[in-house]
Amino acid sequence: MNSAFPRDFLWGCATSAYQIEGSPLADGAGPSIWQRFARTPGRISNGDSGDVACDHYRRVREDVALMRELGLNAYRFSIAWGRVLPDGRGRINAAGLGFYERLVDELLAAGITPMATLYHWDLPAALDDRGGWLNPDIAHWFADYLGVVVKALDDRVPLWATINEPWVVADGGYMHGVLAPGHRSAEEAAIAAHHLLRAHAHGVRAYRAIGRQQIGLVVNIEPKHLPPNASDADRRAQSLADAYMNRQYLDPAIFGRYPEELPAVFGASWPDWPDSEVDALAVPIDFLGLNYYTRSVNAADPLGWPVPVRALRQAGAIYTETGWELHPRSLTETLLWMHERYGGLPLYVTENGAAFYDPPCAIDGAIDDPLRVHYLQTHIAAVGDAIARGADVRGYCAWSLLDNLEWAHGFSKRFGLVHVNFETLQRTPKASARWYAQMIARHRKGGS
Ligand code: BGC
Repeated sequence: MNSAFPRDFLWGCATSAYQIEGSPLADGAGPSIWQRFARTPGRISNGDSGDVACDHYRRVREDVALMRELGLNAYRFSIAWGRVLPDGRGRINAAGLGFYERLVDELLAAGITPMATLYHWDLPAALDDRGGWLNPDIAHWFADYLGVVVKALDDRVPLWATINEPWVVADGGYMHGVLAPGHRSAEEAAIAAHHLLRAHAHGVRAYRAIGRQQIGLVVNIEPKHLPPNASDADRRAQSLADAYMNRQYLDPAIFGRYPEELPAVFGASWPDWPDSEVDALAVPIDFLGLNYYTRSVNAADPLGWPVPVRALRQAGAIYTETGWELHPRSLTETLLWMHERYGGLPLYVTENGAAFYDPPCAIDGAIDDPLRVHYLQTHIAAVGDAIARGADVRGYCAWSLLDNLEWAHGFSKRFGLVHVNFETLQRTPKASARWYAQMIARHRKGGS
């Protein structure tokens, strides 16, 4: 293995609350927008929902034991806002908070570093009733929620993230409507984006007053490449695509300014935010989390919305079940880009993985997933290359520990290193889990 990885590097897996926990209303929890979305016909493939998911809520000890068996020294999970505050604000539900206290204690007892994300898309439905991410008050609601969780867990959680992939929240939830709450409006997407950034900034400020550990933001980045012989129109469209997906959140959060291309992306829907408000979006953070899955090669296309591009399929490339091209070199490129553009902040790869069709268990119950092994091998090597070239990368979390509810795709896309039989809920480590465990063990021994 690449010797560039420091000895104290964090090797983990990532999950999120609604995707794995199940029992979404147990012990006094309030419903989330995903609870509602799942009950709206046609929103989730096959009528699937997170009602049971991986039943992690009730199998937390078993799952932490599995992580220990694999030799993970980090685990990235998210906290369901509505378990802690059933109405999104006000009354605290001690039982909901207690679940995360137990999870964190189990992790620490197993020698696994907890990495907690405060928002991974499951907004309390009660807050959606008040406008959700469209209501400016959400920045305060989020900071208050963060305060409750941090007071309970900061003594045991060394790494916090405010929001997971704000771009997906605004684009999937408010622009294209494929994720909860399912709206389709460029105006709303621009407003939601701004309030996500305000919530992040308020949250970090609130954290500094009470927290003593580290806090950062998790973004998804997908490099936008040009085809050979790109035209001027392709170049222009590429810069819009890059601004919209890759810089819309990081530039304001770090520099206090939106990319100059955004008014062209949103057109008349772009709000003219006052400078003082945009400046206030930048607050010092301790690290950036990168969720990296793929790149895209784009050509200009006036039918693209909101960005006038179309992705070009690459001959000879491997594509995952979600239609994403395997392109590990772009992970190195992205880490180096973040390192250089955003002032050398410490970086964590907070998600990286692939959905592939896993053939039914072979005779001995083993699940062979050679493409996922290949994906992990090549992407981990790509992280090593970025470190060797100067990026300060401190950890890597594979997405995902378990097969789980892949949002609107339901259970049809399997990203897990561990197979889950959704009828019996039995967990079976795939070959990729075994490979990852061996790689971590070799690294710990200092071998190559
Ligand atoms: C999200 C995960 C999701 C994964 C694969 C990321 O965008 O954070 O929740 O399951 O990608 O689509």
